[in-house]
Amino acid sequence: MNIIVKHSSPDAVVSDLLAIGLFEGQSVKEAGYGTLDAALGGLIEQVITAGDFEGKALKARLLYTHGDAIATRRILLVGLGKQAEFTLAVARQAAGVAAQTLADLKLRRLATVVHGLTAAGVAPASAAQTIVEGTLLGLYRFITHKREENTQRPTVDADELILLAPAAEMVSALESGAQVGQILATSANLVRDLVNESGNYVTPKVLAGQAQALTQDMGISLTVYGEEAMREMGMESFLSVSRGSAQEAQFMVLEYFPAAAGADTLVLIGKAITFDTGGISLKPNDGMWEMKCDMAGGAAVIGALRSIAQLKLPVRVVGLVCAAENMPGPDAIKPGDVVKAMNGKSVEYMSTDAEGRMVLADGLCYSARYQPAAVIDCATLTGSIVMALSSDMSGVFANDDPLFTRIQKAADAAGEPVWRMPIWKPYRERINSDVADMKGSTGTRYAGAITAALFLQEFVPENTPWAHMDIAGTAWQEDHKPYQPRGASANPMRTLVELARAWAK
Ligand code: BES
Ligand code: MN
Ligand code: ZN
Repeated sequence: MNIIVKHSSPDAVVSDLLAIGLFEGQSVKEAGYGTLDAALGGLIEQVITAGDFEGKALKARLLYTHGDAIATRRILLVGLGKQAEFTLAVARQAAGVAAQTLADLKLRRLATVVHGLTAAGVAPASAAQTIVEGTLLGLYRFITHKREENTQRPTVDADELILLAPAAEMVSALESGAQVGQILATSANLVRDLVNESGNYVTPKVLAGQAQALTQDMGISLTVYGEEAMREMGMESFLSVSRGSAQEAQFMVLEYFPAAAGADTLVLIGKAITFDTGGISLKPNDGMWEMKCDMAGGAAVIGALRSIAQLKLPVRVVGLVCAAENMPGPDAIKPGDVVKAMNGKSVEYMSTDAEGRMVLADGLCYSARYQPAAVIDCATLTGSIVMALSSDMSGVFANDDPLFTRIQKAADAAGEPVWRMPIWKPYRERINSDVADMKGSTGTRYAGAITAALFLQEFVPENTPWAHMDIAGTAWQEDHKPYQPRGASANPMRTLVELARAWAK
């Protein structure tokens, strides 16, 4: 996608679709489109007066201009809602509405006016970043396996976005914001491709190959450990998960250590179960196909490292991706089996379907060698978090208040909502085991997300700020939303990058 920032009036811009945002109850003049509407002979004002467009959030109206009145033949009015309730999240969604209209009409070029956002007090760089994110995320489709769309795609693909700067002085800030947005959205769409892709295509080894392909020549060093190397490191907990699978587990270590970085190291850990059948504790078939998304945490970590390196952020970041396939098989781990993690703690399996925490346990132990300023793991870990928060919010468990606050701010900036959950100590006894240091899970469904977090905490390096993001609800979206087609969301990749951006300041 070619993104161009231009200081030009909307009536002069040559494009296929011109999107302009208006707040609820705003007149054309108040919105600053007086000149444009005059060129159109009052067309927009007429639509508003007739009550056909009220500026309600994300409601859109497509208008066709007459003859050569202005240079672009189609105008999309997009409602921004009540001005008092306006946030960047609304702006990102509004951009997504415009992008999807463009795609529906099979058009190539979109022009959009930044004016509404900057007039509402949004910093130009953030405004441009948000619009670009909403547009590129909104244009995403997973078409890898669709023969027809794949051959059509080059002709219908949108390839130009013009951002109209309200003032010449704003151009450079808009350009840098647009570049950030493009880096983030491009990586997020690559993450979506990985997560939407089926388990037969994305195995742990294929994921490791993708990690290599997506992060090479960016100043990231990647080391991939196979099962033999993991055995030598004592990662018996991690290894136990793939024992029933023909696919070899892979532990990926991505290190981004830029010369200009400060002293802090952030470690991001991702659960990457390329398919979760449940293992011997087999899941029911209904909805099992969706467990191809069980590597979403790992994919988000790969995408975050890629973005962070492309943005050349002056902060040290390590990505640990714990990839395995959870299958029943002749050598599969069984309920009642006991395994030992890298830190020497033993775990008695209750359900082989509680596999995510077993790979993360060793990932957390491994992170200790970096003496990290913060460790954040993200994982599609429990059905329990979906019961609590559904699909719009990720649950965040943090042992450190300032770290949670930073994550919340980053999530806000990214438009990927989070809600803090308790690491409630009294429930720790629920995973007491008669034979090992702890059980893998409780055997009841109550507070399953909390007991999972309490389990993970046993493997967190001492005195280390740590947060666990349970993204089981947010990684996969059933409902089509403005910049979210059904399927993978790439959540919380942009949150992780925003966190690193804020950390680097
Ligand atoms: N991958 C699942 C969790 C999940 C559920 C992800 C729904 C996405 C959507 C995880 O491995 C799992 O099976 N968790 C079990 C744990 C239980 C056996 C303790 C669960 O939450 O039921
Ligand atoms: Mn499972
Ligand atoms: Zn799982």
